[in-house]
Amino acid sequence: MMTGEGKLSERLAGKVAVVTGAGSGIGQGCALMFARHGATVCAVDIDRASLDETVHTAEGEGNAIKAYEADLTDPAAVAALVAKIAGDNRRIDVLVNAAAVAEFVWIEEMDYETHWRRTLRGELDTVFLMTKQAWPHMKASGGGSIVNLASANAYVALKDSPALAHTAGKGGVLAMTRQLAMEGGPHGIRANSISPGMIVTSATKPVLERPELLAAVHEKLMVDRLGKPEDIAWLAVYLASDESTYVTGADFRVDGGALAW
Ligand SMILES: NC(=O)c1ccc[n+]([C@@H]2O[C@H](COP(=O)([O-])OP(=O)(O)OC[C@H]3O[C@@H](n4cnc5c(N)ncnc54)[C@H](O)[C@@H]3O)[C@@H](O)[C@H]2O)c1
Repeated sequence: MMTGEGKLSERLAGKVAVVTGAGSGIGQGCALMFARHGATVCAVDIDRASLDETVHTAEGEGNAIKAYEADLTDPAAVAALVAKIAGDNRRIDVLVNAAAVAEFVWIEEMDYETHWRRTLRGELDTVFLMTKQAWPHMKASGGGSIVNLASANAYVALKDSPALAHTAGKGGVLAMTRQLAMEGGPHGIRANSISPGMIVTSATKPVLERPELLAAVHEKLMVDRLGKPEDIAWLAVYLASDESTYVTGADFRVDGGALAW
């Protein structure tokens, strides 16, 4: 995306979209893309400096994004955050749960608190706490769309990747999304997940510097390139929009074909 391109469409016009993890990578890609398609975007992250970057990038494109700083593993902080967002914007129509943190450690070295619990807090608590707080506001808005970030790792193990806690977290996100879709149906709340393959972000850059892991990733690809945040964001726009009102409880793999064989 070149700067200065502003609006691409009005597909999300009138929608208040909360995007977590919006300071970096996929969350940032979704926040910027949503702004290009007319949403009021509330960008959430624990890292103020990276949030500011997202806001400035949007400004450079002629769009506005509102920034909200919070630790999404802290129940009280999430309650205060969502009350503030709802107060500022009067409604919540879309929630993209992209914020996450994970520890990649082989089982023999995996420590209960600093690796296992930290990952499950970072990948599951963040989704649960945000969704629980946003839920009544979506109900009050007449429904909404939740987009959770699962992972190809919810389906398969990647050779040479010590992803045990991450697979548990993302398998959990996949299962939670189906349950949320069922519970949300009567309220017009839809819930879907996106399972990315290997997307180049600050989280994956160090991993991709390991030649054996990079080779394992490439061996699986049908589209022979690594993913970009925009590859995910285009689907998120569809799932957030009224184009997808009959789509719920679904998972979408955006992985260059990696899971198809
Ligand atoms: N990049 C990939 O290849 C890939 C693949 C599959 C799934 N995913 C998932 O997509 C999502 C985004 O991944 P990414 O690669 O863009 O990650 P990233 O590390 O680039 O960005 C994650 C953002 O979340 C924020 N964050 C982390 N913990 C937080 C907390 N407690 N409170 C508030 N903000 C917090 C970080 O500050 C960061 O800005 C994650 O859920 C990740 O598991 C990524």
